[in-house]
Amino acid sequence: MSNIKVELTKSPKPKPVDESKLTFGDVFTDHMLIVDYDEGQGWHDARIVPYGPLSLDPAAMCLHYGQEVFEGMKAYRADDGRVLLFRPQENFKRLNLSNDRLCIPPVDEEFMLECLEKFVSIDADWIPKAPDTSLYLRPFIIAVDPHLGVRAANHYLFMVIASPVGPYYPEGLDPVKIYVETKYVRAVKGGTGFTKTAGNYSSSLKAQYEAKEKNYTQVLWLDGVERKYIEEVGTMNVFFKIDGEIITPSLDGSILGGITRKSAIELMRGWGMKVTERRLSIDELAKAYDDGKLEEAFGTGTAAVISPIGHLNWGDTKIMNINNGEIGPVSQRLYDELTGIQWGKVEDKYGWTV
Ligand code: COI
Repeated sequence: MSNIKVELTKSPKPKPVDESKLTFGDVFTDHMLIVDYDEGQGWHDARIVPYGPLSLDPAAMCLHYGQEVFEGMKAYRADDGRVLLFRPQENFKRLNLSNDRLCIPPVDEEFMLECLEKFVSIDADWIPKAPDTSLYLRPFIIAVDPHLGVRAANHYLFMVIASPVGPYYPEGLDPVKIYVETKYVRAVKGGTGFTKTAGNYSSSLKAQYEAKEKNYTQVLWLDGVERKYIEEVGTMNVFFKIDGEIITPSLDGSILGGITRKSAIELMRGWGMKVTERRLSIDELAKAYDDGKLEEAFGTGTAAVISPIGHLNWGDTKIMNINNGEIGPVSQRLYDELTGIQWGKVEDKYGWTV
């Protein structure tokens, strides 16, 4: 066992009383995990300490140039009391991909997973038990050197905080209304779209708010060059069922390689469905809709798992009502199977849970 220091809180916080009312990301547990990085020493001093504010130099580089990466994962409480994580190795693999792009030194994936498991075991009483709730885990790394020149930092903090959560969207599994974004773009090839870094999300806010003003939950992102090919939906990967075939945009550099995306593809292929990863244009989608072949659309992500799309508005000219605005059979089956595996209710044939 590696050396992970633990300092338990002397003043535990009250836990949420009504778990069925949990929202997303508003409540935090009693502890947090911190690991330092210093040039020459590497990652060191892993410790679990009481949750609380950080003391950062106002010149800390993450505050100025956004040298930051993060992950999102969940811990689940099974009926038999076990605590389950879903494919956590994939999160640490992706963290290192993001690190590489953001010039952050790589982490030892196995060691960080060990730290995270210890942290989760210490705050395990915070994992909610109500249906569709879990403990959302947010690993992240920030650059902390006090320095205003633009360069990669020499000092970082790796941290994990945890939040008992309910549904990400208040709609839950009810299909959401999506606005096809033609003014703003999320990412371009060669940029950071394939990473989980703060800037991808801050630069997406404007579109999200403009869509909200029009009464839409989120936007459908198109590629940043031709403004033609579908990339993601809100903060999620996106799938369409067209004439019996499942199509999702291929990972070509500007799209995040979602772990729920990967799992959904593997599940559907395992069910014998045809799943194709390729470029899909908004024109092709609209044509499929006109031909009556657009059967389902949904987003996939850790936070919401599956988010069915019931309505797409493209440039105020074409409105697509998908599956009568109801959740489709593939979306429902994926949600049931994924959450069934995550909560330990369905046999984990793929060995995904830890
Ligand atoms: C997810 O779908 O898990 C996300 O990436 C959303 C997260 C930023 C809250």
